[in-house]
Amino acid sequence: MKNAELIFVPAPVRGHLISMVELAKLLINRNESISVTILIMKFPYDAGVSSYMDSLSNDPIPRCSILEIPPSNSESYKSQSYHTMISTFIAGHFTNVKNEVIAMTQPDRSTRLAGFVLDIFCVSMVDIAKELNVPAYVYLTSGASYLGILLHLQAMTDYQNKDISEYQDSDAQLSVPYYKNLVPANVLPAICLDEKGSEVTLSWGRKLRETKGIIVNTFVELETYAVQSLVVDTTEIPLVYAVGPNLNLTSVGQDIDEAADVFTWLDEKPLSSVVFLCFGSYGSFLEDQVKEIALALEHSGHPFLWSLRPSGIDSNLNKYANLDDMLPPGFLERTSGTGKIIGWAPQVAVLSHRAVGGFVSHCGWNSILESVWFGVPVATWPLYAEQQLNAFEMVNELEMAVDISIDYDTFSKNTVIIEAKIIESKIRELMKDGSDIRNRVTEIQRKSRAAIAETGSSYNNLGRLIEDIIAA
Ligand SMILES: *[C@@H]1O[C@H](CO)[C@@H](O)[C@H](O)[C@H]1NC(C)=O
Ligand SMILES: *[C@@H]1O[C@H](CO)[C@@H](O)[C@H](O)[C@H]1NC(C)=O
Repeated sequence: MKNAELIFVPAPVRGHLISMVELAKLLINRNESISVTILIMKFPYDAGVSSYMDSLSNDPIPRCSILEIPPSNSESYKSQSYHTMISTFIAGHFTNVKNEVIAMTQPDRSTRLAGFVLDIFCVSMVDIAKELNVPAYVYLTSGASYLGILLHLQAMTDYQNKDISEYQDSDAQLSVPYYKNLVPANVLPAICLDEKGSEVTLSWGRKLRETKGIIVNTFVELETYAVQSLVVDTTEIPLVYAVGPNLNLTSVGQDIDEAADVFTWLDEKPLSSVVFLCFGSYGSFLEDQVKEIALALEHSGHPFLWSLRPSGIDSNLNKYANLDDMLPPGFLERTSGTGKIIGWAPQVAVLSHRAVGGFVSHCGWNSILESVWFGVPVATWPLYAEQQLNAFEMVNELEMAVDISIDYDTFSKNTVIIEAKIIESKIRELMKDGSDIRNRVTEIQRKSRAAIAETGSSYNNLGRLIEDIIAA
């Protein structure tokens, strides 16, 4: 019998792409009758995709090929919001993706087309799979709770005739079947509620229900309530496969070599003593907020490693030229013994270091999984996308994080500066030895490792997914 070939369609965003390549590797390594072709769309505003593709072609993965798909039109997307811009960009590739895959179904090919694995941004391509009469799966690089929100917003609109845009700037609390607690409307992703964004979100919800299954980068022991509620749901939700944590940990050694000064500095610090602040590829703050963070760190007395970066999508803009101007007068001098400010941070390698005892994070889903994997408690400081929802989940649903904020939003006019005094007290709470939160994180860390080990829950779910793919 011919190998089963899966077509992966990642969103053209570096983080999503890396996570999807990791999933391809998991599947390929688990069963030798699976091959993968990854279709790449090059988004002109994300340089990270090209550099990652180069690194892949230097280090090819067996039974995995990479194919670049050109757009069928060359529109300008600049005037739109990021969310709708990416969706429009992807829609512009629909025809070319379809033609490319049809070419792969020719009988002389050595593999047989077994189906699609789509990023959530590409879920509209479920229509191509239907036309070709093969199953489509979605791979969600966020958690099961977020999946629940996407489905619930759509269900409210389509089955209960509600207008979700009413939740914009609202202080309503929503009862969502996949959450134990009421969900405040102000932690729902803003992009899901405005006029254009809600169109995209609702179409995601509808298309998700047309897939054969949803693969989620989570594990049952972390999001037990959400995963179980999705399984027993009666509104026609496809099978959910929790296969995580699916992390790329291979670069740790290399990162340590490349940022030797950071790790020499960490090596000299006591066990679990350092607070690490890092806010993702696009995370930055206004100068007034930077100053409050600085004062809080200084007064907390804890050693700190702070990834402080200017705003802007350009990944070369890693560092402030005028760092001194951003910070309170004399700050760098006074903290030269206890603190270190860096630009880009090798986050995984830092979290793996024994000296790191707490992590102030923007709560991107990958960052949460990494903090869990290394057993480092988080203080939540969400900035955009679905990070507020992740922060809410960590603090209220899972009770495993300290809340600096759960509704901070870089792009909202209503967001107020968080004062140094508050940040300082939260950092003290985060760094406390033997706290309930720290104990819970240690317990979940153990479970995260067990989940992907042989006979663990995610290991078994991956096996079930492979059986379903091959049997189809
Ligand atoms: C893992 O991630 C790093 C970036 O942190 C990347 O350079 C590397 O290529 C990735 N490894 C694989 C095998 O995808
Ligand atoms: C690969 O999957 C097929 C179908 O589920 C199964 O029969 C076979 O044993 C698997 N191979 C391995 C190495 O697990």
